[in-house]
Amino acid sequence: MLAAVITAFGGPDVFALTELPAPAGEVVDVTLAGVNFADVHRRRGEYEKPSLPAVLGADVVGRLRSGRRVAALLRAGGGYAQVAPAQHVVDVPGEVSDEQALAVLEQGLTAWHSLHTLGRVGADDVVVVTAAAGGVGHLAVQLARAAGARVIALASSPAKRAFLTELGAHVTVDSHHPDLGAALGEAPTLVLDSVGGRTFEQLHGALAPFGRIVAYGGASDVANTVAVDDLMTASTGVLGFWLQRVLDDEELYRSSAARLFHLAGRGLLTARIGGRYPLSAVGRAHADLESRTTSGKLVIDVHRLT
Ligand SMILES: NC(=O)c1ccc[n+]([C@@H]2O[C@H](COP(=O)([O-])OP(=O)(O)OC[C@H]3O[C@@H](n4cnc5c(N)ncnc54)[C@H](OP(=O)(O)O)[C@@H]3O)[C@@H](O)[C@H]2O)c1
Repeated sequence: MLAAVITAFGGPDVFALTELPAPAGEVVDVTLAGVNFADVHRRRGEYEKPSLPAVLGADVVGRLRSGRRVAALLRAGGGYAQVAPAQHVVDVPGEVSDEQALAVLEQGLTAWHSLHTLGRVGADDVVVVTAAAGGVGHLAVQLARAAGARVIALASSPAKRAFLTELGAHVTVDSHHPDLGAALGEAPTLVLDSVGGRTFEQLHGALAPFGRIVAYGGASDVANTVAVDDLMTASTGVLGFWLQRVLDDEELYRSSAARLFHLAGRGLLTARIGGRYPLSAVGRAHADLESRTTSGKLVIDVHRLT
């Protein structure tokens, strides 16, 4: 099988198309692999540093050898390949396309559990979503709207902000604005943040009393610390989300994946496919994601080589 392999940590040019033996054990014959921002961190050697050589890629859709159409989440990588290990496999209902299944699984679970399980979103909430046009963010915007909340969506370009307005965001804000708290125009009661650094600081500072911020990523590469005394004074909460904790609970994983597929199958949650790349162009997909120009989910067609 062919795979996009890295033999060194670094920029998007470290991927090389390489012939490898298929993984041992049960496998998925991959149709599409997903691109996730966490793989940018892994490729740079900043996060869950994989041993080299490595095949990155955390989510795939395809078929088991039995013919079952499945999606799988690969916590140890292996997704940027024509055959992947069959880990955390869930059946894909007939009415959900491969692209939609891939786009609503890893990113949809992150959006759902940040918004509902931790954020306890309700119709009275004013919800801010950072990186709102991205893979997780554009699903979170739709789910927050469906929960009846008022939605303020942050994104870095006019084109992304127009997309977010189409998706139903009530207000959009330029994520480069130097004073995000002021730019919101109102105090949020719930913030979903995947950027960290000054974005987290400013949005946490803008929370209404009794508001909460759910942190689930650090695209800015700047870590945050929180002083408990300050939380008491402001009466706000800081929560964190990691998908691994959902995967640790098989029943929670299966039921929430089934809910997301149900919503996708009925057209109540629609992922945007922001780019479809051949296996030889995984590096280009990473470069595009890092350049902050993409929206929605990027997918790799592992059987297209050019
Ligand atoms: N905790 C978990 O278990 C979990 C699971 C899945 C994903 N995540 C996290 O969720 C976030 C979204 O993941 P995704 O795959 O859907 O990616 P994505 O949102 O499609 O892409 C990242 C977005 O982050 C924004 N951004 C802000 N500062 C950036 C910077 N310095 N460099 C690059 N981008 C920057 C950009 O949006 P603007 O340019 O519009 O601001 C960019 O489009 C990531 O932080 C990821 O690590 C966490």
